[in-house]
Amino acid sequence: MSSEKTNQSWGGRFSEPVDAFVARFTASVDFDKRLYRHDILGSQAHARMLTQAGVLSEAERDAIVAGLEEIRGEIEAGTFEWRVDLEDVHMNIEARLTERLGVVGKKLHTGRSRNDQVATDIRLWLRDEIDAILVELNRLQAGLLQLAEAEADTIMPGFTHLQTAQPVTFGHHLLAWFEMLSRDHERLVDCRKRVNRMPLGSAALAGTTYPIQRQVTCELLGFEAIGGNSLDGVSDRDFAIEFCAAASLAMMHLSRCSEELVLWTSAQFQFIDLPDRFCTGSSIMPQKKNPDVPELVRGKTGRVFGALTGLLTLMKGQPLAYNKDNQEDKEPLFDAADTLRDSLRAFADMVPAIKPKREIMREAARRGFSTATDLADYLVRKGLPFRDCHEIVGHAVKYGVDSGKDLAEMSLDELRRFSDQIEQDVFAVLTLEGSVNARDHIGGTAPAQVRAAVQRGRALLAQR
Ligand code: ARG
Repeated sequence: MSSEKTNQSWGGRFSEPVDAFVARFTASVDFDKRLYRHDILGSQAHARMLTQAGVLSEAERDAIVAGLEEIRGEIEAGTFEWRVDLEDVHMNIEARLTERLGVVGKKLHTGRSRNDQVATDIRLWLRDEIDAILVELNRLQAGLLQLAEAEADTIMPGFTHLQTAQPVTFGHHLLAWFEMLSRDHERLVDCRKRVNRMPLGSAALAGTTYPIQRQVTCELLGFEAIGGNSLDGVSDRDFAIEFCAAASLAMMHLSRCSEELVLWTSAQFQFIDLPDRFCTGSSIMPQKKNPDVPELVRGKTGRVFGALTGLLTLMKGQPLAYNKDNQEDKEPLFDAADTLRDSLRAFADMVPAIKPKREIMREAARRGFSTATDLADYLVRKGLPFRDCHEIVGHAVKYGVDSGKDLAEMSLDELRRFSDQIEQDVFAVLTLEGSVNARDHIGGTAPAQVRAAVQRGRALLAQR
């Protein structure tokens, strides 16, 4: 480590080397080196553009492009020596290029600043991350459709206030998860559009005096648009915040799904089984099989919310244009992207392996008077006002609680004590199947609607 020298990239106006601790304190290379691939892509595009602009010769361009390619090889082979005294990924790579090429390497940074370079790198990196996240999200959603189709007829209790409310189909419940994730997909796709705008060419803050051709780098790097203001280009990080906001919502959804999986695998519910490979045991209680994967996803949600809050706070007081504060954008952003991607991956692997215990689910729906609303609706169809029906059924439920009988277990005579409008045909509506089949409209829980929703979901995935 050559902290004895002044920094070779900006040391000209300095008369003493930077303090060794300050060098470490201000360096970002330990974490921003993961941007190396995108840094190299950006530099290669910049060099190509400089040749078109008449700033670099073709030979210089070729040497730079090939030199950067070899540096990429060194980094990937693990032979590249990262130096903290060179502060960040950008200066490490540039210094190595100059070491290899001599004076030509020093020409790469013409018409550019680390300020527009880093903003470009993060956007290129995040664009790729979003694409990888969308792959996992798709995989998870496809798995949900498959399971929902298989469980279209499976009856479970639906809950409000975590109290048994009305019977639903398990397929319908899974499709609620699908729906949440569809909105997460939309948000990420939308966020990607604003990530995919190019700050390169903003230079330090005001643009550059060289005849740069920003449409050339824009096209080479696959950006959708060129950032329209250089001050904004180097300083704005709202795209990263927006990503963390979308990631937070997606994690919030995964966390809710996790909570349900934890409940459902408990001895109290026993609605599903998770294969052993997604669980761990206890070192002291031999009977335990803990749903670690969903618990961990639920727990990791906090990190992503933290990244969002951290980045909002990082930006809120910053004057234009670039400030060193911005170096703090990377770790939360990296962590949020890693966490979301890993959590989606875990869920995509786990969901198709969920084994529902259909009899137990059904039994739970049968208990708890889950067809009480159906009885009220039945009386409405016989001509009574809904409020009166609600009252009548309330009395029937009270009787059921006292006598330990569910509505469907009562005799016709017993039921007629509460209303003489009740006839033999009531038993059809008091069954679980009758209850779910009756909710036969778009978005309803009837098995036929679940199958239709699965088809709509498949069409949605196919057009992505
Ligand atoms: N490592 C810096 C960052 O992450 C790169 C840009 C530094 N620019 C500067 N003028 N100090 O933001």
